[in-house]
Amino acid sequence: MERQFSDLIILLASGINQRRMYFDDHPKVTAVSQEFTTRLRGIIAEDGSEEFTFGVFGGKFIRHGKYLVGPSIAGRSLIEFAQRLDCGGFTFRLPLAIVDVATFFRLGATMKEPLDNLEEAQTLFAANGIDHIELSVPLREKGENIEDEGVPEPNAATDFMAADFAPLLNVYQALYDTVSSNNHSINRNEDVDMTQARTSGEKLVGASEMGAMDVMQFMRYPDYDSYTIGHSVRVAALSAMLGRELGWPPEILGELATAGLVHDLGKGRVPEEILFKTGALDPDEMKIIQSHPAAGAQILLASGEQSPLIISAAWGHHIREDGGGYPVMQEWYTQGSAASLIHVCDVFEALTAVRPYKAPMSPRRAFEIMLQDKGGFQPRMLAALIRAMGLYPPGSEVVLSDFRKAVVIARGRDMDNPLVRVTHDPGGMPIARNDQPAIQLEAGNELDVAEFLLVGITDEGHGQPEKDIDLITTGFSDYFQ
Ligand SMILES: [Fe+2]
Ligand SMILES: [Fe+2]
Repeated sequence: MERQFSDLIILLASGINQRRMYFDDHPKVTAVSQEFTTRLRGIIAEDGSEEFTFGVFGGKFIRHGKYLVGPSIAGRSLIEFAQRLDCGGFTFRLPLAIVDVATFFRLGATMKEPLDNLEEAQTLFAANGIDHIELSVPLREKGENIEDEGVPEPNAATDFMAADFAPLLNVYQALYDTVSSNNHSINRNEDVDMTQARTSGEKLVGASEMGAMDVMQFMRYPDYDSYTIGHSVRVAALSAMLGRELGWPPEILGELATAGLVHDLGKGRVPEEILFKTGALDPDEMKIIQSHPAAGAQILLASGEQSPLIISAAWGHHIREDGGGYPVMQEWYTQGSAASLIHVCDVFEALTAVRPYKAPMSPRRAFEIMLQDKGGFQPRMLAALIRAMGLYPPGSEVVLSDFRKAVVIARGRDMDNPLVRVTHDPGGMPIARNDQPAIQLEAGNELDVAEFLLVGITDEGHGQPEKDIDLITTGFSDYFQ
């Protein structure tokens, strides 16, 4: 249930982002207002409450006295809006009208200057006819004002990931902004800003020195804005990680990350009714979709990009190892390693991505599917991706065979036995951060991973149990001998 409330917060931020790019009546903006209103009504009815309320403090969202990590990353635009309004949170009350939400998005997207105080903000909301959205008083640290109890105390068991994650917020935001402003440029037939893309790519590589952990963090968040933004950001992160695993030099890693960010630029030229069509595509529509790699390469060239790595990765990221896929291989084209690398990351991301209405697939299951696709991927790339991720990527939550819950902190000596940090005792009670033991699981030990929970951090401290946890028994021997 709380997960659904978190998703609602992200949806609000997404509405503001969409309104920044489009006008009030644009179908994309209306769709988010509508979806938010409908989902809110449904969730509230199920929850038995009258309203949906959450706080904003210190750049993070708060609900029921707990910081929410996920929305705080994807929900930047909403946090900034709250700051400009000088308010400590929002309450959405029934009967909420779609127009309330649409106006909320418009103000969030167009209000540039901060207001002096909350009264001004309340007057602004009233003047714009927003009837069912209330602004709360700014939250303060305890002690400053006796009446303020809104700011949660740091909670060792649930907030530990937030602290680990903080340095990445800015990087994520830069990546996200790059892809979204590129999409914006393509919509308006303008060149894309490759300097910004490179800067973001290099920022990502700098931030990823810590390892794969931070990469996995990018994989958990539902992506309401468009399929392409979150996808491109995560492909960029995976590509840099994979390049590092392969021992490629730092300057190439920056190029790879940039290539990942822009690999799907050409999708901006595909009409949305085709891009987001849920039913089967007819041959003409298929042709249009398949034009996106070449279109992307053309946009890059037109924007002055000269890196063969970046251009060939855009052109060749749907070409299979056996030469199939699209575009049709030309005799002048040789598939380079970067394109093969992005191809592997692209498919892996698409399989494991969290989407609003799709259950995420575990990396383990994704690897299984990819390994079974003979001739699909360059074996060296796929093997390196699996090596780098391990079967339990850092950030995965697992249940150990003694019923304690743990989070994977590193890959460990072999793929099946990660290094974990125990977060909950067998009775499900959280263990304080300083007392959480790190354990290296060992092959042949009685202590084992019994259950795989969702990858990455969650606000609730647990994810949906992964149903399909059969060990991969096929395919691996071809790659690891
Ligand atoms: Fe693509
Ligand atoms: Fe892609």
